[in-house]
Amino acid sequence: MTKLQKIKQTAEYIRKLSINENSGHDWWHIYRTWQLAKQIGKAEKADMFVAEMAVLLHDLGDYKLEPNHKDRTAEKVKKWLDKMDVFGSDKEKILHIVTHMSYNKNVLKTQELSLEGKIAQDADRLDAIGAMGIARCFIYTGANGAVMYDPGMKPRSFKSSEDYQQRHSIGVQHFYEKLLLLKDLMNTKTAKKIALRRHKFMEQYLKQFFAEWVGKC
Ligand code: NI
Repeated sequence: MTKLQKIKQTAEYIRKLSINENSGHDWWHIYRTWQLAKQIGKAEKADMFVAEMAVLLHDLGDYKLEPNHKDRTAEKVKKWLDKMDVFGSDKEKILHIVTHMSYNKNVLKTQELSLEGKIAQDADRLDAIGAMGIARCFIYTGANGAVMYDPGMKPRSFKSSEDYQQRHSIGVQHFYEKLLLLKDLMNTKTAKKIALRRHKFMEQYLKQFFAEWVGKC
């Protein structure tokens, strides 16, 4: 199997697995992240096999999507890579990326990532901001049975990744605890540019949201 065929088969496996997912981590999130990674990767001259495979597999076994919120990323991704005959340094690189790139693994200390890891992380984070970020934030909130906004709640900070997992924020509060912080956490130049546009759109959206909340617009 060629590398291109492995990428295509992986995409098809993830598409089938997550097409009906309803908390914002569905196939279309993976698809958009994949397209972003290709765009960023081209500009950064990365090993695109590693970057694309990591992006396609990054939510597989994620604690948010697993029963009992138990993280099974390493185990599930490893199994799939074995099936795809991806071994040696490619396998190691992909596994390192998917087990170190997520936001909650970077709460306390920023993880060292390869160029391909930085690209995958940027692409994933870009899909969490802008128009897509707003839509995903609210669909996730709904899937968790929470309210979209509670005027009494104040943004909090988190002490560890366990703390973040347990007290995961939702609705408008999530903008202040995570989404508005992402533009300053982008790794690559290309992603920084895209993030700035998306960030401005979210600020504009929140201004309108709060005006409408009090019937002022
Ligand atoms: Ni993701």
